[in-house]
Amino acid sequence: MTTRNYPRVVTAPPGPKAKAIIARDEAWTSPSLIKEYPLVIGGGCGAVVEDVDGNTFIDYMAGIAVSATGYNHPKVVAAIQEQAARFLHICATDFYFDGFAALSERLARLAPGTSKKRTFLTNSGTEAIEGAIKLARYHTRRPALIAFQGSFHGRTYGAMSLTSSKMRQHKHFGPFLPEVHHIPYANPYRYEHALEYSLDALHNLFERHVAPDDVAAIFVEPIQGEGGYVIPAAGFLPALREICDKHGILLVADEVQSGNGRTGKWWACDHEGVEPDILVTAKGLGSGMPIGAFVAKESVMTWEGGSHGSTYGGNPVAVAAALATLDIIEPMLPQIAKMGERMLGHAQRMQDKYPVLGNVRGRGLMLGMEFVKDRTTKEPYPEIIDRITERAFHKGLLLLGCGKSTFRLAPPLVLDEYDVDTGMGILEECIREED
Ligand SMILES: Cc1ncc(COP(=O)(O)O)c(C=O)c1O
Repeated sequence: MTTRNYPRVVTAPPGPKAKAIIARDEAWTSPSLIKEYPLVIGGGCGAVVEDVDGNTFIDYMAGIAVSATGYNHPKVVAAIQEQAARFLHICATDFYFDGFAALSERLARLAPGTSKKRTFLTNSGTEAIEGAIKLARYHTRRPALIAFQGSFHGRTYGAMSLTSSKMRQHKHFGPFLPEVHHIPYANPYRYEHALEYSLDALHNLFERHVAPDDVAAIFVEPIQGEGGYVIPAAGFLPALREICDKHGILLVADEVQSGNGRTGKWWACDHEGVEPDILVTAKGLGSGMPIGAFVAKESVMTWEGGSHGSTYGGNPVAVAAALATLDIIEPMLPQIAKMGERMLGHAQRMQDKYPVLGNVRGRGLMLGMEFVKDRTTKEPYPEIIDRITERAFHKGLLLLGCGKSTFRLAPPLVLDEYDVDTGMGILEECIREED
């Protein structure tokens, strides 16, 4: 193992500089923005984050799975600088530029499956979901949408209507889109016969509540993100594909969190060999620059000129960052899978030792560690997540929870053996201290 001088917590966070920024933030920002812990970032590189008081941390959260190439990858920074010096903006709804065409082609070619695709670039994940909803309704001329319990698709009204993650994201905001139906996700840890359980609910819905030929699309996260980093039961995505084909329903894969190489393949759908009709991406795509996209089969993207557009979607600087990001990730996919296996190995060894660790699962660098009060009842244990998060922060490891009581491990994709072994060592220390 290489000797390196991080993580290093020299001033108990939040230190004096951090405290001043936090006080100002708390006085002036929207109270809807909850903070996980008092990290005030000063810089970052690879899988290391530095705070404004000079503490360094190993980063297992990547700004919620966004900083795919770290915080200032030289190739991404150079691409941004070069593009910024050329031009900052042109509205791609009205005019052309090289990067917009190049990124659209790149994503269309990278998307799962062999059908010819077309791309619409956006500024965020939620906006890409809105576009996918509109396209699905436009193309099928059908009103209804199906999504899954525990799903998270974003904060705008269409995306929020599909989302079924936490009550506080809905409370006092209704009414939402009509004709949206939720069924259980095929969560193999929570349901004994998860695949059948979920598909039975879908058939039941079709039998009692909504005619399949009124359904425009099924929106699914191939791995649930906010809902708990849940990998569905094997065969779930292919089964959805089959049902969609049978009824002329579009399958929309929300890969905002799971895409762009995070799982060791370009898309989580690739692990199951499933080609969605519409693929939605964002987060890691621009290494932190605001960009998203939805990519649809050409046979589905049939809307007419002027039916959908965006002033900023596919901003030239964000596009340059995305093209550089994809260049960096492409040769790294095997390494991402390898680091993911190493991390999962650590997690599995911890699960063998600590009964509070009910389940661990992962694909590439998208790993979930679910804590429970009791392995038999599988009662969630949110308090332990809070305690370990706090302890890890003070030891120099940045964690982030999801679901009811799961840690999502979603580090920058550029982390190496040292980062894996050191970070997982700290995490284990924090779990051990619970005893
Ligand atoms: C699966 C998924 N879809 C959509 C979104 C919304 O993306 P954004 O926050 O960029 O709007 C998120 C964000 O966490 C997500 O995880």
